[in-house]
Amino acid sequence: MLNPRLDQLTDFPFDRLRTLLEFETPPGDMTPIDLSLGGPMHEPPKILAQEIAANANGWGRYPPMDGTPGFLSAVSNWLCQRYGLPGDTFEEAGMILPVAGSRDPLYMLAAVSVPEDQPGEKPVVLMPNPFYHVYEAAAIMAGAKPVFVPATAENDYLPDYAGLDQKILERTALVFLCTPSNPQGKTADLDYMVSLIKLARKYHFNIAFDECYSEIYDKEPPPGGLQACAKIDQGFNRVVVFNSLSKRSSAPGLRAGFMAGDPALMKKMRLVRTYGGATVPLPIQAASAALYGDEKHVEANRALYRKKFDIAEEILGNQFGFYRPDGGFFLWLDVGDGEAATKQLWSEAGLKALPGAYLSRPDDAGETPGSRYIRLALVHDVETTKSAMRRLADTLR
Ligand SMILES: Cc1ncc(COP(=O)(O)O)c(C=O)c1O
Repeated sequence: MLNPRLDQLTDFPFDRLRTLLEFETPPGDMTPIDLSLGGPMHEPPKILAQEIAANANGWGRYPPMDGTPGFLSAVSNWLCQRYGLPGDTFEEAGMILPVAGSRDPLYMLAAVSVPEDQPGEKPVVLMPNPFYHVYEAAAIMAGAKPVFVPATAENDYLPDYAGLDQKILERTALVFLCTPSNPQGKTADLDYMVSLIKLARKYHFNIAFDECYSEIYDKEPPPGGLQACAKIDQGFNRVVVFNSLSKRSSAPGLRAGFMAGDPALMKKMRLVRTYGGATVPLPIQAASAALYGDEKHVEANRALYRKKFDIAEEILGNQFGFYRPDGGFFLWLDVGDGEAATKQLWSEAGLKALPGAYLSRPDDAGETPGSRYIRLALVHDVETTKSAMRRLADTLR
């Protein structure tokens, strides 16, 4: 016997990509370049390995669920400095927890938020469309109905949650908002966030602010969910933010980050995590504290991404609807037919892209908002990126 909700899960985007390209072969004279995976490839800063080595005695102990004092104070200092919050904001125990990357706790917040069905009606989890694929699976496995809200060029890539039918909002248990977003690279401004928080409090749903790309930005540092809370009353009520060292410090293999926010909600997350969550090993917490305490490596990281967006801008110009995203490291290009372009790019140029259709779902009219697009991750070195952009422009002209 298996959980019937599993039947609603679609194949993982990268499995679909493998199937799409199964019978395509890249040209023999070109080194393939994989831009489909959003895995950071810049070198992590040296302090990471140094801190892990210096704290090696911690491998022999079970890590505490609540985070070490060093970890908690580094994250608290970083949050207060980054978002202009008072220094005592996180004094209450449990408002910050270490996480093994942000994916698992994002998934878990759905399990914590979604109530039982009301007679005949499933609770709802709202998410942008296109979206980071984990949100949909989290909603389904928690027993909710995922409702996909357009986040397209037509609405400046910001889902209009407030414009939804009141009946949907009344059934909503959780909303995901990714800022800067994957794949669109859109940053929500403070006014948008404040309105969303007010909406959540009016309709009694929780908000997951997925801020894993918060430090990879082009011009302005993106505002955060906790910063938006500070603009209004009721503390962090109904809000949890998720942050990660995967992108900030180019350390996706470290599996480290934090979640922070509403003390009542964090308490429930902690409870569930004590049964089924990964704790973060002591040497990793020590390295995380050092990484949140250092901005130099993050500035260098951002500069490298900017340089690659410069290259993309120079080579692509205004082709394929090119725009410079506010943040993140993806190009989101309108190529007319994302799946066809992905096949062509692989077979003619050895470039692996991800069709936008695999990151979105059909709307009520049967239109899949990402289907015209491809997503390209600018995670390689500068020279490889240059060569990839040239191949792209030559192939899809
Ligand atoms: C939008 C978004 N959220 C969360 C994650 C999870 O990242 P991690 O678990 O490495 O923190 C990713 C990773 O690619 C992502 O793109």
